[in-house]
Amino acid sequence: MLELRDVTLERNKVKILSNVNLKVNEGETIVLTGPSGCGKSTLIRVALGLIKPQSGEVLFEGVNLLALSDEGLRRKRHKMGIVFQEFQILEHFTVLENVLLALWEGNRNKKIAEEALRSVGLWEKRFRYPKQLSGGEKQRVGIARALALDPDIIFWDEPTAALDPMYVHEILRIMDSLAQRKTMLVVTHEMPFALKVADQLVLMDSGRIVEKAPPDKIFAHPSSYLGIMYRERLLDTKEALTKLAN
Ligand SMILES: Nc1ncnc2c1ncn2[C@@H]1O[C@H](COP(=O)(O)OP(=O)(O)OP(=O)(O)O)[C@@H](O)[C@H]1O
Ligand SMILES: [Mg+2]
Repeated sequence: MLELRDVTLERNKVKILSNVNLKVNEGETIVLTGPSGCGKSTLIRVALGLIKPQSGEVLFEGVNLLALSDEGLRRKRHKMGIVFQEFQILEHFTVLENVLLALWEGNRNKKIAEEALRSVGLWEKRFRYPKQLSGGEKQRVGIARALALDPDIIFWDEPTAALDPMYVHEILRIMDSLAQRKTMLVVTHEMPFALKVADQLVLMDSGRIVEKAPPDKIFAHPSSYLGIMYRERLLDTKEALTKLAN
């Protein structure tokens, strides 16, 4: 469905992505993680065709996005949903309007947009304004907007990073259920989520992919220091949970 082939991107002679190869097959959920500044958001922007790398290819459904016209690219992007850390919803529009606005861009199937709002549990609150919503609800509007065009793939860039801990769980639960029926590329530091939901875990450092495998494999036998670090974090959480249970 999506493939980055040997992608290298430089800014001011500094390599931000170095020879990145990444494949997302239909139906898969890939979790991408790594330290701040390692290039995760840049990789997503390249995959969306928003920035052009110096070399490499970005294939989406068999088409190289880098070779498309602006119009061709826009049409392809209608099949891609994106949920950001910052909710990026419009304060002066209602919940329903925020979601319907997504339709201006694409196929204008109002039913799918309304269904998206129901699926994140916000139908009852559709006439509210963003300032009358909790952080978790605002992010659910963001998710509904991403779903409104019935995308083939959903990109998530740290969707829970700006949330109070008490709302993180509700967003992860929605992501978990979407992962059952959608293709997703998720940037997150939530390792319990990765372990439960990801088909592949990708670890990145300084613009390079340093490890890619099913999460249970990485956590059992990490082959990079990042793998070891994330494994330890996960074990800490498990230990805390065991302590609480006893
Ligand atoms: N337009 C730009 N020009 C120059 N450097 C940039 C530009 N955009 C990003 N960078 C640099 O590229 C690197 C990767 O940035 P990116 O935002 O992709 O990292 P990230 O992994 O998403 O980090 P975070 O976890 O903090 O969100 C950083 O060192 C950043 O400073
Ligand atoms: Mg980022």
